[in-house]
Amino acid sequence: MRIALLHTADAAGAPEDPVLGQLEDALREDGHDVSRVVVADRVPPVVAALCASPPDLVFNLAESYGGKSALESNIAALLNLLHLRYTGSSPAGLLLAGDKSIAKKVLGFHGIASPEAATVYRGDLDWAGKLHFPVIVKPPQEDASLGVTTRSVVRDLQELLETMSAIHREFNQPVLIEEFVDGREFYVGVLGNESPKPLPVIELDFTDFPEGRPRVASFEAKWGDGGAGHGAEFAGTRAVFPETIDEELLRTMQATAVEAFRALRLRDYARIDLRVTAEAKVYVIEANPNCYLERHAEFARAAERAGMSYRELIHTIVELAGARYAR
Ligand SMILES: Nc1ncnc2c1ncn2[C@@H]1O[C@H](COP(=O)(O)OP(=O)(O)O)[C@@H](O)[C@H]1O
Ligand SMILES: [Mg+2]
Repeated sequence: MRIALLHTADAAGAPEDPVLGQLEDALREDGHDVSRVVVADRVPPVVAALCASPPDLVFNLAESYGGKSALESNIAALLNLLHLRYTGSSPAGLLLAGDKSIAKKVLGFHGIASPEAATVYRGDLDWAGKLHFPVIVKPPQEDASLGVTTRSVVRDLQELLETMSAIHREFNQPVLIEEFVDGREFYVGVLGNESPKPLPVIELDFTDFPEGRPRVASFEAKWGDGGAGHGAEFAGTRAVFPETIDEELLRTMQATAVEAFRALRLRDYARIDLRVTAEAKVYVIEANPNCYLERHAEFARAAERAGMSYRELIHTIVELAGARYAR
């Protein structure tokens, strides 16, 4: 097959995202003819590159447009308008999961728990749940923890008001205020369409996290200070396969992840992020459609744990996408 890797431009001066080379190798080993198409902040070059000789499949890794995560779903929409086949979620799925406050409403409708929350836009209250401090304040349409830092966790009204106004100023977006679930954090990959399957559960281990700081996988925690490099883990958090964990809790987390995947109309592959309280209550924190496929990142590691090599995983995603269009 002729496959075009559609990806967001690297930030100026940043090293190339290693996932590109890894995917290229995996797809070529599988016999595909692979090219790259970059998405920056103009549509005509993308259309020209994709239409010059249309690929059989677009491997959609584009997660922002002109630096804006909120525009991610528009890229899939453009592929639809160009009658191109592509991997991963549709514009609907990207939109539902991509806006955390919309995602929470959809999950709530389906009876899937996510933390109590309120949303505010420029002073107007959209919805207020039964909130208790501490809460975490985030811009609902940003990704990779832009905007979520340890300072996002606030304990009182004064801190809350200050943080909210900072988010309004910086992101010009609604503010999502969520009850802070101070429990263990888990990631569950989901793969499939007609019967989506959960992958083995990964835990973000905070054992070596600095004492006294709220435990959040913040921008600093995920990418190191300044966000240099992809997939680097901050000293203090490690993604591990939990050794001591209740079987029933594992099954509940996997079932919750699959329900969230379906409720948000995701396709092919996604990673669902969960927090679990000391009482074993499972909350969905975030759904990540078209999640990061770097081979050492959570999703590929979980697939490997399930006995799937990186090449097999990428092959499966291509097959899943192809099968959707064959129906
Ligand atoms: N309600 C919450 N309770 C506890 N921790 C949270 C909550 N929301 C977010 N976090 C922490 O912040 C991190 C980033 O938040 P998330 O909503 O996943 O944003 P992003 O899109 O930036 O990944 C999570 O991985 C988790 O560690
Ligand atoms: Mg997240």
